Amino acid sequence: MFKINEELAKDLIEKRRDLHRNPELAFEEFNTTEHLKKWLGEHGIPILPFGLETGIIAEVRGEHEGPTIAIRSDIDALPIKEETDVPFRSEIDGKMHACGHDFHAVSILGAAILLNEQKDLLHGTVRFIFQPAEEVAQGAKYLVDKGVLNDVKAVFGMHNKPDLPVGTIGVKSNGLMASVDKFEITFNGIGGHAGIPSSTIDPIIMASQYVTNVQSIIARRIDLFHNAVISITSINGGNTWNVIPDKVVLQGTVRTFQQEARETISSYMKKLAQTTAEGHGGAVDFQWDSYLPVVNNSEEYEEVVREAIKEAGYEVVNAVPNAGGEDFAYYLNYIPGFFVWMGVDGPKEWHHPEFDLNEEAIKVAAEYFATLAVKVLKNA
Ligand code: NI
Repeated sequence: MFKINEELAKDLIEKRRDLHRNPELAFEEFNTTEHLKKWLGEHGIPILPFGLETGIIAEVRGEHEGPTIAIRSDIDALPIKEETDVPFRSEIDGKMHACGHDFHAVSILGAAILLNEQKDLLHGTVRFIFQPAEEVAQGAKYLVDKGVLNDVKAVFGMHNKPDLPVGTIGVKSNGLMASVDKFEITFNGIGGHAGIPSSTIDPIIMASQYVTNVQSIIARRIDLFHNAVISITSINGGNTWNVIPDKVVLQGTVRTFQQEARETISSYMKKLAQTTAEGHGGAVDFQWDSYLPVVNNSEEYEEVVREAIKEAGYEVVNAVPNAGGEDFAYYLNYIPGFFVWMGVDGPKEWHHPEFDLNEEAIKVAAEYFATLAVKVLKNA
């Protein structure tokens, strides 16, 4: 149905390299935004007036009546010094597109160009979301608050996947990327002489017991068919050998693929912290930071996603879930949708200073999204 011709493929690769040379961090994507605005303008694709500082919302309106769906890309880079040998390597010291968001942006630009040329195939409208600030998990929320998803029926997206070959797309319903939560737990006691512990309330004892006992929440409170990890990554308390400190601070993260497990864990972690502290006559300050929800793909769209991949001439593979977070999750909390892994045959994983990808995947991604949009709107 859609084919990116050689000329457009070359052009999109050049555009990706432009973005790659000029990486910008979260909420600072001013040049990236200007570039995308210009490129969309060159193809006569209208930009919607959402009043965004960075990021762009564009729209291709079909010739036939129908609902609106959205296709999203992120556009921000990372504070990483690039260590690849590519000729278009980052020209900004200490910043790099090390997660391939430059690739995501030009891929959906490609889909917009394809659909704009064949509006007769569209039974509705496709909104293209070029989202800022994914790496700090704030961009999606910012756009939802701006009303970008109002009246949008479903949202679709992707992340590049270095371990999948170009031409393959990973598909899985329900949990694809984990929820990410942060916690900080302060056990408060009474400090004092290490030789006279009976006159203290020792927070090191509380913290030690908590570190080992907290894993029993995974073993005994989480359903056998669910999965989660609790990682305590920092313990701070005391500064010498002969004084019992008055507090110990623990930090860490919880990852899971099920909302139910997420709620169970936070509630039991809090209970256990309270009872541990109280059992020793101390007190606890339990801080839970709900950072990112699960990327929870809607089963209702799995079939059309699979069909679109095949129709575009590519291969469906089963997606392996990933414990990293992705703020596309916010959109899926709001409306249904589907997020896929796009094979890019990269030498290194995300956020690595030698991260790179095979640019042939731009064509695959653009053709997939254009085909998907037509099919989803036809079914709607
Ligand atoms: Ni990323």
